[in-house]
Amino acid sequence: MSYTRSGTLALTIAFAIALTATSPGLAQVKAPPDMSFDKGKDSPGTVTFSHEKHIAAGNKCTSCHVKIFKMKKGTSGPISMEKIKVGEQCGACHNGKTAVEGKTVFLATDAANCEKCHKK
Ligand code: HEC
Ligand code: HEC
Ligand code: HEC
Repeated sequence: MSYTRSGTLALTIAFAIALTATSPGLAQVKAPPDMSFDKGKDSPGTVTFSHEKHIAAGNKCTSCHVKIFKMKKGTSGPISMEKIKVGEQCGACHNGKTAVEGKTVFLATDAANCEKCHKK
């Protein structure tokens, strides 16, 4: 009768997976591929945001979602240097003060760092 038991178990697991898939928590959502942002006036170059590199640097999904950024591209409002300068959006961490995994995150407004985000 172990055949029936494992059959039931398999069904239970399939049901549990279906349930998880229909009510996605952060842990079940896959990080999206690199994304770039529309360029604002006089932007020195396209900015590409890498989820992969940010996760590798020790950021958690909840470090950004959903307090700083919503989880749908283009819904957090246009990203701008004005917001970044006052510590919002990317500037919540790229302020030369915030440390992640013991390392101070590079300062967005330092002229030496523009090219870390803006690529020609
Ligand atoms: C350092 C900040 C940061 C971290 C950490 C982060 N994200 Fe994001 N995520 C963003 C930004 C920025 C966007 C784009 C928001 C926008 O355009 O309004 C985004 C968008 C998304 C989207 C929407 C993609 C789309 O095409 O609409 C998903 C899904 C997502 N993130 C999942 C995750 C998951 C899962 C994790 C953890 C593994 C994670 N994110 C960690 C910054 C982050
Ligand atoms: C942490 C990443 C990051 C760094 C570093 C950074 N920027 Fe930006 N910047 C952005 C993002 C994201 C945008 C929005 C997309 C775009 O306009 O290209 C942006 C937009 C801009 C814009 C368009 C208009 C505006 O004000 O929003 C200008 C101009 C600009 N940046 C200049 C700079 C200069 C100059 C530096 C260096 C002192 C710099 N940025 C450093 C992320 C960064
Ligand atoms: C929750 C904190 C946090 C936020 C918000 C954040 N970053 Fe970062 N970012 C980090 C950390 C930590 C690193 C790795 C340490 C370093 O390079 O200073 C990093 C590294 C980077 C790098 C260098 C690695 C790479 O991907 O090439 C770029 C570029 C970058 N971030 C761009 C951005 C942009 C653009 C935004 C906004 C859309 C943003 N970051 C928002 C924490 C953050």
